[in-house]
Amino acid sequence: MRVLGIESSCDETGVALVEARGAGVPRLLAHALHSQIDMHQAYGGVVPELASRDHIRRVLPLTRAVLAEAGVERDAIDVVAYTRGPGLAGALLVGAGVACALGAALGRPVLGVHHLEGHLLSPFLGADPPEFPFVALLVSGGHTQLMRVEGVGRYEILGETIDDAAGEAFDKSAKLMGLPYPGGPWLSKLAEGGDPEAFRLPRPLLHSGDLDFSFAGLKTAVLTQAKKLGDALASRKADLAAATQAAIVEVLLRKSLAALDQTGMKRLVVAGGVGANRLLRAQLDAACRRRGVRVHYPELALCTDNGAMIAMAAAMRLEAGLEAPTTRYAFDVRPRWPLDALPVS
Ligand code: KG4
Ligand code: ZN
Repeated sequence: MRVLGIESSCDETGVALVEARGAGVPRLLAHALHSQIDMHQAYGGVVPELASRDHIRRVLPLTRAVLAEAGVERDAIDVVAYTRGPGLAGALLVGAGVACALGAALGRPVLGVHHLEGHLLSPFLGADPPEFPFVALLVSGGHTQLMRVEGVGRYEILGETIDDAAGEAFDKSAKLMGLPYPGGPWLSKLAEGGDPEAFRLPRPLLHSGDLDFSFAGLKTAVLTQAKKLGDALASRKADLAAATQAAIVEVLLRKSLAALDQTGMKRLVVAGGVGANRLLRAQLDAACRRRGVRVHYPELALCTDNGAMIAMAAAMRLEAGLEAPTTRYAFDVRPRWPLDALPVS
């Protein structure tokens, strides 16, 4: 079974083809991606209407590129999967509309996929796929969650952010420092030349005793510190960036370790855009090695949004018998969609 996956929930258009062979982890045949970051950078953030229009321009050329790279014709596609939510309504509608049109034209069924499940299962695209069960730290631009994952579709949320996501904390702090959008990678690059102990920033909810996160106060603390510095900010930016990154990473690290303790699990999967952060990876690797815990990450290129994770999540759900793809081509997107509302086995 070959599954085409289309991702268009935010500012990346991704298309990929995955093959499931009945046994073992489905295999990625080809994927292609167009990032809209350059287009949105002029506005300091994603402009939803521009995002939708650009998805329309990119999705079919990317689909052709994927089929060419895989060396197959259109009718080799058995199921067309698309990101159903969560995300920007207009952007989601493009992927859903194209998937349904393609499905109808080819006489193939379609399947809507949860974007976060795509991130969660993205480490299965790598050379060293994890085994179930595991604890998952899902850290994207819009979500920060710790999950207990027993199998495909069997997800229990252990804790999540009560306000901003970790990616948002990176992005908003970076914006205060005058860095381009999305700020995470820029802030982390700037932090390389700074002293993380130059400023003492809060570690929200670090000792709350539960696995929830809060990052809104951290952003306010960064703003207060930036104001205090005034003109001196220009020469202290690297220090402030390093201190901000250290605060976010310490909270993510401590809570992940607490989740491992609480569940007694010996495997951690990190997914979502912030999972590309080098300091986070280094600290998780070191702490988990000491505890005999194995950590799995998606390949760096597949940490942020992409079509491969959508095709993979669809293939894994279909293989697990959790879904029946449909030929009712009603593209009902869900801009807000809690992960624990998915059908389970
Ligand atoms: O998962 P993702 O591509 O999109 C969502 O589904 O939200 O995550 C994007 C987020 C942005 O906030 C971006 O700043 C952050 O991931 N990010 C990083 C890094 N690379 C991407 N944050 C910190 N360090 C990085 N290296
Ligand atoms: Zn994402």
